[in-house]
Amino acid sequence: MLASELPGDEALMRDPFAYLVADGAATAAARADASLQRSIRLRTRYIDDAVLAFASLHPRPQIVLLGAGYDARAYRLDISATVYEIDFPATLAHKAALMAHIAPINTRIAVPVDLASASFVEPLHAAGFDPILPVIVVWEGVSFYLSTRAATSVVVEVGAISAPGSVFVADYAEVARAGTQGFGNATDAMAAQLGDGGEPLRSGLSDMRSTLDAAGFEVVDDELIELLSPRYGQPIGIRQYHSRIVTARRR
Ligand SMILES: C[S@@+](CC[C@H](N)C(=O)[O-])C[C@H]1O[C@@H](n2cnc3c(N)ncnc32)[C@H](O)[C@@H]1O
Repeated sequence: MLASELPGDEALMRDPFAYLVADGAATAAARADASLQRSIRLRTRYIDDAVLAFASLHPRPQIVLLGAGYDARAYRLDISATVYEIDFPATLAHKAALMAHIAPINTRIAVPVDLASASFVEPLHAAGFDPILPVIVVWEGVSFYLSTRAATSVVVEVGAISAPGSVFVADYAEVARAGTQGFGNATDAMAAQLGDGGEPLRSGLSDMRSTLDAAGFEVVDDELIELLSPRYGQPIGIRQYHSRIVTARRR
């Protein structure tokens, strides 16, 4: 079932703009993998809650969506934030065209950067980001698509732009915990489901916790996404994916 078909709290989240990007093939693929859909709903809800909690503490919240894609938080979260969306230039341009007739609730600023080959720090500053103010950086569904080297650089840069008290929320493949199985086995199920439809899964971080520590972050939460369900009053389903989600606070 899709979130839009689930009643009340069972859906965990609502994205009234998903129809703009999900064509028939994407919808059919989503229906075919209930576990992945559940996992994505849990991930979205967790991050929504983190963003709302951050916004409740900061009068002029800054949000950076790293690899923003078609994330609609600037349009659907009723807060008063500045949302910096970093992604490939073409993706951001396509999103702007798709959403042209919808006014974002928050200030939305597109920051085109290829995270695999360039730093996002200068473009973000040039776009008006205030390095003195805390920020919540969301890295959702992206680390898998980068090489270990590029993913590590991204985390180091997140540390560099984050004032003390800033928050970083990211999902990642459980590579370190997969032991000798490695990234391939940790992401095989996901790669099979994504098929040829998307970008190839690369490797992401080999050790999220030590990378975060070196970048100046203290981990405050780190859980398998599929084990988040009891937090939202739902039973734990069949374990299929190895993705974890981490929240870290800048020291
Ligand atoms: C699976 S989507 C996730 C999008 C969004 N964060 C969400 O959760 O809805 C992955 C996103 O990462 C972006 N991405 C992947 N590699 C990137 C790179 N090298 N530079 C910038 N963005 C990248 C893709 O363009 C895409 O928008």
